[in-house]
Amino acid sequence: MADLKGVVLAGGLGKRLRPLTKITNKHLLPVFNQPMVYYPVQTLVEAGIADILIVTGGNHAGEFLRLLGNGQEFGLKDINYTYQEGEGGIAEALGLAEHFADGQRIVVILGDNIIEKSIKQDIDKFRKQPQGARILIKEVEDPQRFGVVELKGNKIIAIEEKPKKPKSNYAVTGIYMYDAEVFNIIKTLKPSARNELEITDVNNAYLKRNQLYYNKLDGWWTDAGSFDSLLRANNLAAEKFRREQR
Ligand code: DAU
Repeated sequence: MADLKGVVLAGGLGKRLRPLTKITNKHLLPVFNQPMVYYPVQTLVEAGIADILIVTGGNHAGEFLRLLGNGQEFGLKDINYTYQEGEGGIAEALGLAEHFADGQRIVVILGDNIIEKSIKQDIDKFRKQPQGARILIKEVEDPQRFGVVELKGNKIIAIEEKPKKPKSNYAVTGIYMYDAEVFNIIKTLKPSARNELEITDVNNAYLKRNQLYYNKLDGWWTDAGSFDSLLRANNLAAEKFRREQR
């Protein structure tokens, strides 16, 4: 399906996982029986997206090419790669996909986000919406660690990045769908207090335009950027693998 392109964001320095990330990139670390980056690539491929860009950075970017090559293992014809200098944030990394996107709609997934089920249905809803963005939210026990939505009835009225006092238990997962306007929005962003271009600011910009749609993600979801979430990711991936073997 050439109508949508996929972007995996695997830049950043993975500082929270040091010393594991001292000599390698976070997304190359093992999650049960596969390197972390396999999971988001599989999520996109399973959803029917065959045109994929990997954005990476740091000192180990070359290893992604060695590991993934042209994506044969995933049934792909080829994989596109680009390089983020430094770690200026998720939205900065996404900005590097403008040329690749070439005016088409994109499905973006963070390289450390691992999910249980398919996002095909959500992507189909995105295809049918006239314009704008679609995010996937998930109820969590520790919303302070994430972008968190404030809901009024069924409507998102605001998103806060890592709030001390979250307005709900619904985190914004690292799976985002955007029309080509996203690149114009990114160009207007200013760095946040942590000196990054924030994806939450992108989503809030769509919200302001009344063009932010959402679904509740089906099945479990985890990131893998801290020791605890990496352990959780390993356990969940192992459980899923064993279930599928049976
Ligand atoms: O996992 C979902 C959460 O991801 C969202 O709820 C938050 O709103 C969003 O800001 C993000 O939060 P984190 O602080 O956990 O993101 P982190 O800095 O760990 O980056 C997540 C991935 O994004 C990382 O695995 C690779 C990619 N990334 C990150 C940065 C900072 C890049 O490609 N380049 C970057 O410069």
